[in-house]
Amino acid sequence: MKIICAKDYEHASKIAANMIAAQVIMKPDSVLGLATGSTPLGAYEQLIEWHQKGYLNFSKIRTINLDEYRGLCPENEQSYHFYMKEHFLGHINITNEQTYIPDGTEPDADKACADYDAIIDTCGGIDLQILGLGHNGHIGFNEPEAFFSKGTHCVKLAESTIRANARFFASINDVPKEAYTMGIKSIMQAKKIMIMVSGEAKKDIVRQAFFGTITPQVPASVLQLHRDVVLVGDEAALAECPIERDKELWNR
Ligand code: F6R
Repeated sequence: MKIICAKDYEHASKIAANMIAAQVIMKPDSVLGLATGSTPLGAYEQLIEWHQKGYLNFSKIRTINLDEYRGLCPENEQSYHFYMKEHFLGHINITNEQTYIPDGTEPDADKACADYDAIIDTCGGIDLQILGLGHNGHIGFNEPEAFFSKGTHCVKLAESTIRANARFFASINDVPKEAYTMGIKSIMQAKKIMIMVSGEAKKDIVRQAFFGTITPQVPASVLQLHRDVVLVGDEAALAECPIERDKELWNR
């Protein structure tokens, strides 16, 4: 695993955007696995700016998002469909047909999940998967469990996730209780993974996930077993990690 210690969120976002841009430039028909949440917002903003300046062309890119709340339609402002359009996909040269997000409106969970796995297969897998890290160690919406999940599945969101995500909703009661999420196996099958972490509130879980025991109770810990992972974090999020502070790039 490579660990890149940036000085702050802005710096980390620029580094992450550079890595995504390099992927798009080196393989213009890449399949990008995308995340929502607060952490990737700065990187998306930077990519949009580079696209608008003419430096990045997304016309052959396909994107596969990690997750969607069950029951929310794309027009709902809290849906991940809406988020992606608002913060990234709606500002670059990519068509709706090239972008995939689980269908939160499909009431049949088995169908929604099987359809999404078929899409991932048809795309030939993911070239670069972007991840954020939940306060409880989740990636996508793979919550702490007794085993690592495989394909796309319907999850009951953990109380801590509902509390963390309540900031995006009018009230905590409005946060959906379930979501469709890509599974750990699909994430681990990505050729490359970049996980972004920011802020002091994540420092304990970052240490546990990347320097602790590999366990489904900390789903992100499984990333220690992937052969091409980059952790991009700011100093605050990496504060508890046993790395030398004056080094920007670490191999572990
Ligand atoms: C988002 C996702 C989640 C978030 C995680 C961190 O699609 O799958 O795993 O990446 O909850 O969220 P933030 O970045 O808001 O701290």
